[in-house]
Amino acid sequence: MSSIRYAKSQIAIHWLAAALIIFLLVTGTLVLADLPNTAEKIGNLRFHMILGVLAGVLVIARVILRKRLPALPAVHGEMFARLGHMALNLIILLLVFSGAMLMLQSGALDALFGSAALPADFKEFTPRRIHGLASRAAMALIALHVLAALYHQFIVRDGLLARMGIGSNKIGRQ
Ligand code: HEM
Ligand code: HEM
Repeated sequence: MSSIRYAKSQIAIHWLAAALIIFLLVTGTLVLADLPNTAEKIGNLRFHMILGVLAGVLVIARVILRKRLPALPAVHGEMFARLGHMALNLIILLLVFSGAMLMLQSGALDALFGSAALPADFKEFTPRRIHGLASRAAMALIALHVLAALYHQFIVRDGLLARMGIGSNKIGRQ
């Protein structure tokens, strides 16, 4: 018997994007934010920026696939799930946008791909404050998202994780 689940492409994108985003949140907070803006930071910043843009592309691909592919049966609390997923996508896009604005406004792009020096500190730029706040909001939303998934799996017992490729949920158990 087959399971009710998202398409393979959606599952692959979900987990790839999740791994990327968690990596960026952890390394951004614990490594990048604490490094002084010397030339040694440029490699780290370039890596962060490229992975960040990739995460943004994956979010857009996810939204397109969700619109094009047939919808899955509604879950218990479908409205909350939809709002939560929309908020997650929006906060990631805000991170990419504020990151890009920060690079442009601070002139860091010329340091990453040219020979200019980095600005003394990113903290004086408004997009940096937005990026920092958005990263904390993203952490809170992701924590909520994981708790909601566990609530479904172990309390509602609707086999929700299987929809995202973990385990199986036989049709009829929904
Ligand atoms: C950075 C981390 C994450 C983000 C940004 C994220 C985002 C999303 C989004 C936007 C959806 C809606 C489906 C879609 O449009 O493709 C979704 C679904 C889902 N996610 Fe995540 N996710 C993350 C991490 C996780 C983790 C760690 C778990 C494991 C507990 C998880 C479990 C699920 C499940 C089970 C669904 C399916 C929900 C349903 O069928 O309605 N996600 N996620
Ligand atoms: C999903 C996408 C992204 C995530 C999750 C993310 C996450 C983070 C986090 C957590 C921080 C540290 C914030 C703090 O502790 O206050 C940070 C800093 C930063 N991010 Fe991102 N970021 C993303 C995308 C981008 C992009 C696309 C760019 C550039 C185009 C970018 C450029 C920066 C810069 C320049 C800093 C500042 C480092 C500093 O203050 O020294 N980020 N990011």
